[in-house]
Amino acid sequence: RRRYRVHHLAQAKEQGSKITMLTAYDAVTAAVFDAAGIDVLLVGDSIGNTMHGHTTTLPVTVDDMIPAARAVAGAARYALVVVDLPFGSYEAGPEQALATAVRFMKETGAAAVKLEGGRSVAPQIRAITDAGIPVVGHLGFTPQSEHALGGHRVQGRGEDAAEALCADALAVQEAGAVAVVLEMTTVEVAARATEILQIPTIGIGAGPATDGQVLVWTDMAGMTEWTPRFARRFAELGTALREAAEDYAADVRGGTFPDAAHSFER
Ligand code: KIV
Ligand code: NA
Repeated sequence: RRRYRVHHLAQAKEQGSKITMLTAYDAVTAAVFDAAGIDVLLVGDSIGNTMHGHTTTLPVTVDDMIPAARAVAGAARYALVVVDLPFGSYEAGPEQALATAVRFMKETGAAAVKLEGGRSVAPQIRAITDAGIPVVGHLGFTPQSEHALGGHRVQGRGEDAAEALCADALAVQEAGAVAVVLEMTTVEVAARATEILQIPTIGIGAGPATDGQVLVWTDMAGMTEWTPRFARRFAELGTALREAAEDYAADVRGGTFPDAAHSFER
């Protein structure tokens, strides 16, 4: 097995083989998903929701992302590691965006960065790309803009919105992005963007037509009670983990753990 690199993204689209992507926020899960053969690991700013207990991604900082990205990049032997530029670390302009991306590349070992937005952040994508750092775009429902978007709403509904999304997708490609995530769009607009773009689309809540799929791992594994409609629970890890903790506590309280097999004598 060879390291998954950015040219494999283009190759996958060409060959019509689906790109697989999952989020990871630490070395433990990154090693598991890497061993499972996942192509791309995303150190998402969803770390704010999944790991840090925030209700949005807005409070996430570069200093939050760096140790997570370092842990994932350190554990991933084969997967391409992509790290999110968090809210407030790139919007001011191409200089700010490049400075943040350079910091991630220097300090974490990640191989690419991702940022949200279309035409309005094309100069940022261009500046980072020109510095030799691969960029993944992110369109549709973009969580860092959830207040402007009026909450978690499906994007690209209606012809005007669909056209705007496609224009953003083309701008992201033109600026040099190597792939683009499409989040919570209609099936139709995701199919249209996938058709008109030369770079691969990676969908989350965007239907089956995209060139790849991404899920937040805690949704994928059933770690939490609530799951978004677009995510399938491929396991019930939350229940399994709770039961393990209950069994552990019962055995400690009952005096059956530790036993001789788990103790040292003389
Ligand atoms: O932060 C994240 O997990 C993401 C994915 C939903 C694409 O950006
Ligand atoms: Na994100």
